[in-house]
Amino acid sequence: MKVLITGAAGLLGSEFVRAYHARGDVVVACDRARLDVTDAERVGDLMREETPDVVLHCAAYTAVDRAERDGERAFSVNEDGTRNVADAAASIGARFVYFSTDYVFDGQTDEPYTPDSLPNPLSVYGRSKVAGEGATQASGADWLIVRTGWLFGRGGSNFVSTVLRRAREGLPTRVVDDQRGRPTWATNLAEHTIELLDLGTLGIVHVANSGTATWFELAEAALRIQKLKLDVTPVSTQVWGAAAERPRYSVLDIAASEARLGRVMAPWYDALSTFLSKVDL
Ligand SMILES: NC(=O)c1ccc[n+]([C@@H]2O[C@H](COP(=O)([O-])OP(=O)(O)OC[C@H]3O[C@@H](n4cnc5c(N)ncnc54)[C@H](OP(=O)(O)O)[C@@H]3O)[C@@H](O)[C@H]2O)c1
Repeated sequence: MKVLITGAAGLLGSEFVRAYHARGDVVVACDRARLDVTDAERVGDLMREETPDVVLHCAAYTAVDRAERDGERAFSVNEDGTRNVADAAASIGARFVYFSTDYVFDGQTDEPYTPDSLPNPLSVYGRSKVAGEGATQASGADWLIVRTGWLFGRGGSNFVSTVLRRAREGLPTRVVDDQRGRPTWATNLAEHTIELLDLGTLGIVHVANSGTATWFELAEAALRIQKLKLDVTPVSTQVWGAAAERPRYSVLDIAASEARLGRVMAPWYDALSTFLSKVDL
């Protein structure tokens, strides 16, 4: 099988590159320098040259707070870029996979969000990702939308590596303690997505590790596992004062994916322990 991966140098894209290489599949790994997804002509040309069976669209504008003052760029990448890649995938009959986010929801609930729940994003980033879902659905490709959230892993900057770095540097850290989600290891997300694709899954799915946490609980867990001491202070979203509004509760219901896979997702704490035992951050 041949897979084309956009955003291949990012946190999730690099997981797919590793996972598909390990399976012996042919991987066309496109970082931004090789394929800027906002360049429709280049996207079309590359898709026709490579004719992959599956396109994993991991390229995205992911700076949630910066998007509040840079909405044009966020939509250009997350909506127009997605349309370019999805339409090009449709034109060659490739399956198209789009990664979306728990931030498409408003968090005004205490029940996990199912794939059928109605998006109501609070931020520019969330709205641009909903627009990307729309572009995916309109493309005419065989599409899979994978919503996930709170990723940690090897590549890029992510919350867990930031907390651990600050601990090593002895910097006091404030962490938000009133937003709840499902921390998810990018490696598990890639594995489950590949399995779902192998099963021929289409439509919208939610994939995340099981269990829930606040950012503060996640920070504490990472420090405990690494036996590091850090002066961490829990703070409210209001005190933290980020530019973008985030859902207070963005727990994704993963039951349908678990049923499809025939097994439960690993708890986030176990996934975090495994990740930290393998990687030197
Ligand atoms: N991380 C999370 O917690 C999280 C949660 C929910 C959903 N997601 C979704 O999961 C997907 C992967 O996210 P991630 O965490 O892997 O993000 P990431 O580490 O920021 O990777 C995104 C990649 O896309 C690239 N990119 C940006 N603009 C591009 C363009 N115009 N053309 C081509 N490439 C471009 C970035 O390159 P540069 O570095 O050069 O900008 C980066 O390598 C995204 O769709 C994201 O919305 C992530």
